[in-house]
Amino acid sequence: MPNIVIVGTQWGDEGKGKIVHLLANDADMIVRYQGGANAGHTVINDHAQYTFHMIPSGIVHPGKTCILGNGMVIDPAALLEEIFLLESQQIAVRENFFISHRAHLILPYHRAIERENEKLKGPRRIGTTGRGIGPSYADKMGRTGIRMGDLLDPNCFREILKANLAEMNLFFNRLYDAESMDLDGIFETYCAYGKRLKNHVTDVSLLINNAIDQSKTVLFEGAQGTHLDVDHGTYPFVTSSNSTAGGACTGTGVGPTCINEVVGVTKAYTTRVGSGPFPTELTGDTGNGLRTRGNEFGATTGRPRRCGWYDAVAVKYAVRVNGLSSLAVTKLDVLDGEPEIKICTSYLHDGKHYTDIPINEAAINSCEPVYEVLEGWDHPTSGITSYQKLPDPAKRFIEKIEALAGCKVDIVSTGSHEKETIIRRNPLAAKK
Ligand code: IMP
Repeated sequence: MPNIVIVGTQWGDEGKGKIVHLLANDADMIVRYQGGANAGHTVINDHAQYTFHMIPSGIVHPGKTCILGNGMVIDPAALLEEIFLLESQQIAVRENFFISHRAHLILPYHRAIERENEKLKGPRRIGTTGRGIGPSYADKMGRTGIRMGDLLDPNCFREILKANLAEMNLFFNRLYDAESMDLDGIFETYCAYGKRLKNHVTDVSLLINNAIDQSKTVLFEGAQGTHLDVDHGTYPFVTSSNSTAGGACTGTGVGPTCINEVVGVTKAYTTRVGSGPFPTELTGDTGNGLRTRGNEFGATTGRPRRCGWYDAVAVKYAVRVNGLSSLAVTKLDVLDGEPEIKICTSYLHDGKHYTDIPINEAAINSCEPVYEVLEGWDHPTSGITSYQKLPDPAKRFIEKIEALAGCKVDIVSTGSHEKETIIRRNPLAAKK
């Protein structure tokens, strides 16, 4: 069985949780490789609705191993709360769950620094999820980060924490006019987290590579989306990690030769939370209608999402930078009842048409989306499980997505329940 990566092709919230959950049925191991509790993945099955922020949604299937890779930034308090909630829903998070000893920690000063930074930025504020993600990755790159493995060695942990706090408290006192943070308080709290999590901490690169050597199937679960990637997204309005497929290798310690397929999840329209360019954004009734019907409110922060038409320029770019082998289109049913459906095929800026993402920020900020208008469909697609049964205009919409992306659509989601799905080809059924 192949090893596959699932990524978002837009600005996150594409419905990756549902697709990962479905494909996890045929996988042995499900691995998150970047981000942290900024993500929010929702899964609905016959038993309940589950929301995941860090733990892969595959944990819902008994007998699967779930892993948090070294590319993640972990807030232990948020993780313990998530474990508690899942266990209260009868989902066991025990010997089936591992955390990389190289994953970085989010500490209270990361959240505080982020809050102060966002306040100072004015119109350039990112609109982050407020989880301390950026400052934790900044420490990682600045080589002052504290890792999960450090928590297991209190002396080493205290030494790094003390040095970091000495510097952070200077920022708080002199720049932000805020109170110092207390070394002993943070140390005691985090040592207690370390004790509760220590049995899960291990060298996950070894675990995953051993599984691959034994021909097990590994599913790498991306969080956020291509255009939020720190390298390939709409910088600086991005998250601070590599949410594209390459992150699956650097974020876990698995070589690119082990990855067989990359599936891009794309919503039938586009959404974005936080600040930053969004060429197809709809601010009037059509956008409000998409938000209401699609329940477009953040699973992590509850913020209303900005909504707009499907952007084929953005998705074609995602096909390229992720090397996508196929697409999964989600929320097709949200377009039910729209008399006409628009797809953005190029951006117009200063008299020039762009069919690829322009390299200058001004062009993507102020371009006009150029639309192709497709006929809507009268019959609802909601709950349809066979491609043949889709109304013809809905099939033409899917075929247009394929043609503009240069990539096949293998999966179409027609509702939030796991059963409301059309599977034209199961990427995990392909041979290695
Ligand atoms: P951060 O990841 O909290 O630093 O936020 C940076 C940007 O990424 C903000 O615009 C967030 O709204 C956005 N973002 C982060 N995580 C997600 C997600 O899971 N879905 C959608 N947007 C996200």
